[in-house]
Amino acid sequence: MFDEVSQAAQVPVLVTGGNGYVASWIVKDLLDRGMLVHATVRDVTDPRRTRHLLELAERAPGRLVLFEADLLDSTSFDAALSGCEIVFHTASPFTVLYAVSGTRCETLSSRRDTAPATC
Ligand SMILES: NC(=O)c1ccc[n+]([C@@H]2O[C@H](COP(=O)([O-])OP(=O)(O)OC[C@H]3O[C@@H](n4cnc5c(N)ncnc54)[C@H](OP(=O)(O)O)[C@@H]3O)[C@@H](O)[C@H]2O)c1
Repeated sequence: MFDEVSQAAQVPVLVTGGNGYVASWIVKDLLDRGMLVHATVRDVTDPRRTRHLLELAERAPGRLVLFEADLLDSTSFDAALSGCEIVFHTASPFTVLYAVSGTRCETLSSRRDTAPATC
């Protein structure tokens, strides 16, 4: 059992958009479980995007490695993805407000008894 846990802790888990709201909670949980976390941010040199993640890592048994990646560059996630078997893909260029209205729009549009929705 201990071997399985320690072995799992060596296999990195990727969290994209690592500094985002949802991702930060995921990163915290994984670090608290002692996991090796690969987290992507758009600018690793920007402390506004990284400081809280580094502070989380300092207080947890797990290990955090930050990578720079942008959804607009399809190859930029390659390094962060290397060795990972699990990916939490939360990076999103849309805020929750737009995501919710977009989902509502799609839902309305897909109803057969209504005309295409104007959102
Ligand atoms: N928050 C909720 O309650 C909730 C509920 C249900 C579903 N969701 C969904 O979960 C996902 C994340 O939500 P969130 O609230 O965590 O959003 P968020 O705090 O805005 O985080 C979004 C993340 O995506 C990154 N990002 C934006 N554009 C990017 C790009 N071009 N390339 C790479 N990364 C990019 C942001 O980086 P920067 O900091 O550099 O901008 C940030 O790290 C979204 O799809 C959202 O719709 C959220």
